[in-house]
Formats: sequence, C-alpha cells, structure tokens
Amino acid sequence: MDIKNVFKNNEKWIAKRLEKDPEYFTNLAKGQNPDILYIGCSDSRVTAEDLMGVNPGEVFVHRNIANMVISIDLNMNSVLNYAVDNLKVDHVIVCGHYFCGGVKAAMQAADLGILNPWLRNIRDVYRIHKNELNAISDETEKYKRLVELNVQEQCVNLIKTAVVQKAIKGRNMQIHGWVFDVQSGRLIDLKIDFKKILEEIMEIYNLGEMSNY
Ligand code: CO
Repeated sequence: MDIKNVFKNNEKWIAKRLEKDPEYFTNLAKGQNPDILYIGCSDSRVTAEDLMGVNPGEVFVHRNIANMVISIDLNMNSVLNYAVDNLKVDHVIVCGHYFCGGVKAAMQAADLGILNPWLRNIRDVYRIHKNELNAISDETEKYKRLVELNVQEQCVNLIKTAVVQKAIKGRNMQIHGWVFDVQSGRLIDLKIDFKKILEEIMEIYNLGEMSNY
C-alpha cells in the first residue's frame, strides 16, 4: 500500500462528510458521548466501527491481540475505568472473531517469546474448559469454540473488576459477549448467561458492591 493514498483517502473522507453536513467536524470537536465500550482483537479484518455500522463518536474502542481482559493490563484497565466511570457507557462488549491468530497460537506447542505470557491467558481458558474442548474432535470446531469461550472468560474477567461491579449494581450497565464471523461478516451475540455467571463467581470475586446479588 502506498502510504500517500491514506492522505488522499482522508481528503476524500473529509469532503464526503462535509458535503452531508458542513458542521460535521465542528460538532465532532465539541466532545464525545459514546454509549458503548468495545474491546476487540487487533486483527486487521475485524474493524470495530465498520462492522457495527457506527459513526465517529459512538463507540469507545480498545483492541489488543485476542481481545483479552487481563487484570494487570494497565492499558485495558485505564480504558475500562475511563469508559465506565467518566463516559458512563451503558454497554461493555467483548468481541472475538473466528480464525483469530492469537487463539490459534495458544493452541499450539510453540515458544513465541514475548507473546508467551499474553497467550498464556488463553491457555488458561482452555484449561478451565478442557473437558468440553477435548470432546470436540473436529479441529476447526474446537478452534471456533475456544474463540467463543475466550470471549466468555474475558467477560467474566470484566465482572471481576470493581469498576464493572459498581456500574452493574448502580446503573444496570450491561456486559455483552460477541463473535465476528470473518467468513460471513456476521456479528454473533453469544447470549452469555451473566446472571448465572454472577451467581457462580460472586462468592469469590465480590469486591463489596455486589452483596445483594
Ligand atoms: Co484475533
């Protein structure tokens, strides 16, 4: 790709926006008020705004390899805390995708250097759901299921944080687990049963806000 094209594309994009609304950028500069925090994979095929059909200003976005929510990740935690406490988003989404390279790498016996500690968290997801995954003989199906279970466990990781527990209790903020199917372009809601998960994990992870749950 000729990087000069990026700037040409940008000029075209500006012209298109201004044609529809001459005040577009003036209004955009006033501030943001997104309802959604989207945590997705860095994969170039999974473009958060495009696949959801949303405009600038509508979604706060955080992306990393394999859409992970790791407790000591200062980057993810800063995004999460800012989105929930300051932007007061109503929805936090973890969006995985089939054929995720990060998940694939975690299924293989290979030393990937600095990626090892990151991908270790996906191996932990495999360990938690080992019985279900080992019962799937088809490798592609197993791979796809691990993508889904990884999304589920990252949603659980969100619920383990104080900021999310407070917002669920205080203003009914919602967590969603989605998967993007690269082959069809379809966004799939995994319909994770959060009530059941909360009942199961709050005995251990309650940070004081969820005592009535
Ligand atoms: Co990925």
